Amino acid sequence: MPGPLDVFRDNALAGHVALITGGGTGICRGIAAAYARLGADVCIVSRKQDVLDIAAKELSAQTGRTVIGIAADVRDPEAITRAIAATVERFGKLDTLVNGAAGNFLAPAAALSPNGFKTVIDIDLNGTFNASRAAFEHLSKTGDSLILNISATLHYHGTPLQVHASAAKAGVDAVTKNLAVEWGRFKIRVCGIAPGPIAETEGMKRLAPGELTDKMTAGIPAARFGTIDEIAAAAVYLRSPAAAYVTGHVLVVDGGHCVATPALGMSFS
Ligand code: HXC
Repeated sequence: MPGPLDVFRDNALAGHVALITGGGTGICRGIAAAYARLGADVCIVSRKQDVLDIAAKELSAQTGRTVIGIAADVRDPEAITRAIAATVERFGKLDTLVNGAAGNFLAPAAALSPNGFKTVIDIDLNGTFNASRAAFEHLSKTGDSLILNISATLHYHGTPLQVHASAAKAGVDAVTKNLAVEWGRFKIRVCGIAPGPIAETEGMKRLAPGELTDKMTAGIPAARFGTIDEIAAAAVYLRSPAAAYVTGHVLVVDGGHCVATPALGMSFS
């Protein structure tokens, strides 16, 4: 019987089945790789089947596990329901849902169209609910399930040019807490990870292009961007028996970014 200190042992996730939205690229591809490396079978979901096919093939080759890709837009409840059903049909069950599909761009609120705001809410927030709702029936059958929602720290303060993403991620954190409360009795834990600036992600390419990278790094006490593997390690911990009594919690992994103050113009590097 695995104990709480066996988090990263070989085969820690043998027999597990995880579905990861946004798993074709970036942070969520890193989580897919980590779960598969520890023995899980994984379905990655995003909008583009060609991206998924390449990622699934590479992840299977790297980990020796079965990684499949199913195209679905999380904004479409029927499409994500079909993807989840196909995953259960293929692997026999579902233990873990990671809600990572997200959309973002820099836009001043005064110039952001209502549809631009709605689009990000639809992907991040409604997508998280759609997938969680569709997975509930399957997750409630395993006796040890996890929903892991990837949010951000944008909404802890006002963040310029990010009203759409901040509102969406605040909603995602609210979904984490509410589902944890409602679904605990079904043996479903619901947790979140709030990554700070993470290197080599689509998010940072969009939000901190060029010279903004140095400016942002100066405001991080750890004096660097985080890595995809550091988020994946948090996702492994939250999936493990070590976190069996952790639910409704959002784990911030940001090198201290969100607790630092820019007061007096100080930087940390
Ligand atoms: C202003 C924009 C815009 C931009 C799109 N829109 N890009 N408005 N500035 N740069 C507006 C459009 O004008 C349109 O409104 C509406 O948004 C929908 O745009 P579409 O292109 O039709 O939508 P769609 O094809 O569904 O694309 C969704 C998307 C896109 C979010 C806009 O960028 C996308 O699919 N991104 C996926 C990958 C991604 O963004 N990853 C980064 C996540 S980063 P109108 O009114 O014209 O119809 C992240 C990290 C956050 O989540 C935290 C970091 C610390």
